[in-house]
Amino acid sequence: MTDTQAIKDRIDIVALIQEYVPLKKAGINWKANCPFHNEKSPSFMVHSEKQIWHCFGCSKGGDIFSFIQEMEGLDFPGALKLLAARAGVQLENIRPAAETSQRNRLLEINETAANFFHRFLLEIPASKPAREYLVDRGLTEATIRAWRIGFAPDQWELLTKYLLKKGFGIDDIVASGLTIKKDDASTTNLRGFYDRFRGRIMFPLSDAQGTVLGFTGRVLVETEQSGGKYVNTPETPVFNKSKMLFGLPQAKTFIKSQNLAVLVEGQMDVISCHQAGMQNVVAASGTALTEGQLRILKRYTSNLAMAFDADSAGIRAGGRGADLALAEGFNVLVIQIQGAVAKDADECLKKAPDVWFKAVKDAREVMEWYFALQSSKLTSSVPRERQQAADLLLEKIAVIPHAIEQEQWLRRLGETVGAELGLLREELRRHKKGLGKAILSPTAIVPAVAPPEPATRQERLQEALWALLLKFPDLFAGIKDRLTPLYFTDPAFLALYQLFEQWYTNPYSLAEQLAKLSLRRGNESLTDVLELEAVRAYESTTPEQAVAEAENLALHLGEEWKKVRRRQLLEQLRQSEQTGDSEQTNQLLAELQKL
Ligand code: UTP
Ligand code: MN
Repeated sequence: MTDTQAIKDRIDIVALIQEYVPLKKAGINWKANCPFHNEKSPSFMVHSEKQIWHCFGCSKGGDIFSFIQEMEGLDFPGALKLLAARAGVQLENIRPAAETSQRNRLLEINETAANFFHRFLLEIPASKPAREYLVDRGLTEATIRAWRIGFAPDQWELLTKYLLKKGFGIDDIVASGLTIKKDDASTTNLRGFYDRFRGRIMFPLSDAQGTVLGFTGRVLVETEQSGGKYVNTPETPVFNKSKMLFGLPQAKTFIKSQNLAVLVEGQMDVISCHQAGMQNVVAASGTALTEGQLRILKRYTSNLAMAFDADSAGIRAGGRGADLALAEGFNVLVIQIQGAVAKDADECLKKAPDVWFKAVKDAREVMEWYFALQSSKLTSSVPRERQQAADLLLEKIAVIPHAIEQEQWLRRLGETVGAELGLLREELRRHKKGLGKAILSPTAIVPAVAPPEPATRQERLQEALWALLLKFPDLFAGIKDRLTPLYFTDPAFLALYQLFEQWYTNPYSLAEQLAKLSLRRGNESLTDVLELEAVRAYESTTPEQAVAEAENLALHLGEEWKKVRRRQLLEQLRQSEQTGDSEQTNQLLAELQKL
């Protein structure tokens, strides 16, 4: 048996998906709002017997592996590994991790270091000041363990020596970023290497699955020589800070279930929030928010509440992050701590936890927040000031990738500054033109998850008809005369039509023939997809209703075909008139007439 089959045998797709998405029963199958695109009514279906899933909104689908790939942002080998571990299946063709690649060796070094720091903090007497510091900052022992917080003592070579003793090569240790190599270092006698993190509280930085990719270390005692308050792992083959979200493994299921991510500034803010019971919280820690981070978040939610410092630098940095998030199609909210009680979430939770919870609950739409920031200028009696404020807001409005929302804010702006909508639309166009260059990179304007390729009405009708006919094949007899091969613009549907034609004149096992055809749609079986569509659309359809529905679909399919054909003919006619081809023109006219 193959590895994938062994894994599939042990993992039930319904149970697996249920952990990410609340599934509701639909006959013998299950449905839910699709986790991969925004929708209000469920078009995400799971077939428990066939162990497949498909979304009729965004046309994604497949088996447990493709689901985990989409959900966790993994490639196939990654999904295979994750599910193999879950199923307790030993993968045959995978060698012991440490031998395979540098990537795996670096991950193992990180894991070893995380353990080293964590045990050092918990067990070694020299860590007492660090433990006291953390307790003083309000962290419980359970929190320290859950987040694997550690301590790197203030020594030069402790970790480097430990990793060498564990058998890791010095080149890998340096590549992990944990050890720094001096210019005059010698690999033969191992002189000239020293620990990057010294005298610091250590926070492991992980990917969504909790694999440690790097660290950030907060200085315990600030001195002249201690360097920055926080030191991060540099870019390494496994660590890329622009794709790192601190707290993601702990927060992801909460972000999904609450359909909201709260973004704070620092590690301590994240940890304090989680400890206080607010668990949908992450931080971009150590960088300005990036597209990469937003795209990762987008897997879990499209709603983002951001907290940033209320000073002008904080507003500028936060504003840039908010613009990026808007451009990525997020619904962006801004969290403001009332009355300057505290500068960040961590401090606020300590001084007045209610204020923080209320601030998150009352988070404002980012455009509201921008309007509020500009409110005095917007209503100023000096036209120049109104213009400046309007320009600033137009810049923000131009980023929003949804037309209706844009229009709404434009109206609001018009009302506030007393300008005509037409004028503002013109100004907005100017701003949009400048966008690609100045404010955002071109890719940022495209929503992160490309909106599902909208199926044409013609395609949707074909799909609906075949879903119905596969469920009630006998209906074909009644509508056969209303159909022509021309209606089936999709080759797979045309094949189905031909199959049914033959079957009609010469009955044989339809199921067998269908299986032989083995029609595909992308990575999925077309008949499986149609079967799910039938469950979704025709679950409670009676045979009588099905007759009417089949006739109805055949009728619309015909009309739609005529409409599309007429458009094609008109276009060809325009061309043949241009080239002066009178014979072709007459032919086209004749066909148009017939239509
Ligand atoms: P802050 O200076 O606001 O620190 O930086 P903080 O989070 O309140 O830290 P504590 O509470 O004093 O421990 C906010 C975040 O910016 C990053 C860190 O991720 C930090 O949590 N930062 C800050 C750095 O990466 N390097 C620095 O030198 C300072
Ligand atoms: Mn702080």
